[in-house]
Amino acid sequence: MTTLTVTPMTQPLGAEISGIDLGKANGETIDRLQDLLSQHLVLLFRDQTLSDEQLVTVSGLFGKLDVPAPNPFGEPFHKGHPEINVISNIVSDGKPAGNLGAGEAVWHADMTYKETPPRAAILYALQVPDAGGNTYFADMYQAYEALPDDLKSEVEGKLAIHDASHNSAGIKRKGYAEITDVRETPGARHPLVRIDPTTGRKALFLGRRPRSYIPGLSVADSDRLLDRLWAHIDNPNFYMCHEWRVGDALMWSNQEVLHRRDSFDADAKRLMHRTQIRHFHSDQAKSSAA
Ligand SMILES: [Fe+2]
Repeated sequence: MTTLTVTPMTQPLGAEISGIDLGKANGETIDRLQDLLSQHLVLLFRDQTLSDEQLVTVSGLFGKLDVPAPNPFGEPFHKGHPEINVISNIVSDGKPAGNLGAGEAVWHADMTYKETPPRAAILYALQVPDAGGNTYFADMYQAYEALPDDLKSEVEGKLAIHDASHNSAGIKRKGYAEITDVRETPGARHPLVRIDPTTGRKALFLGRRPRSYIPGLSVADSDRLLDRLWAHIDNPNFYMCHEWRVGDALMWSNQEVLHRRDSFDADAKRLMHRTQIRHFHSDQAKSSAA
């Protein structure tokens, strides 16, 4: 059996896992990694050499994969493996190789505008710029636990709308109208406080700030409360920063952490392949046994 070495980060969350070739991981190792992910929320694997096939295979050992939305031309970004989302600023023959460009991506969790947002993601670095493009992850358990008492009682029992109309780079998705009234923002409504079904531990569940709205409040009151919450979570006591190296694979727990990305020089090239795990096989087994 693989002997893993787990080194918790000196940051508020995350752990580096060494002694593993992800491309050869088996079922027993996957179970252990899943436990470590629940514990640390972000797992870093350095110096990996994963083919696209191996990335899809290892991701699929955790659970069912989501297929990302097509590119602006209606084709998958990765034709050979449509389960792979390409995150890149590279443009070849006038076509973008991937999503998000070189700009900043604001704090968000992925696809929380769906009723059941994805469980986890794996992002694998193939090309990175010399500077910039760092990714940050914020622990929403710690953020909830550190809320001042008045905010803790204000969030109780409230929902928020998670905007489906724009991506994390602020670009409007195809087929959506511009939002002029946040009360009409399309997207799933989720409680502001998420309770882990296994541990009962509470986490803030915010999705993304732009065009969010708390039903039942006036727009001004909703904005005030959301602004306070977002100001609260943007705090180095709750987040870690990852500076990428080629060969890094990073896995995160999408429902309990937010992530964001710094911009980088648009002339530099950044190429990442990402898979998204809709739900873990083990969660699915538990719910069908229940
Ligand atoms: Fe994202």
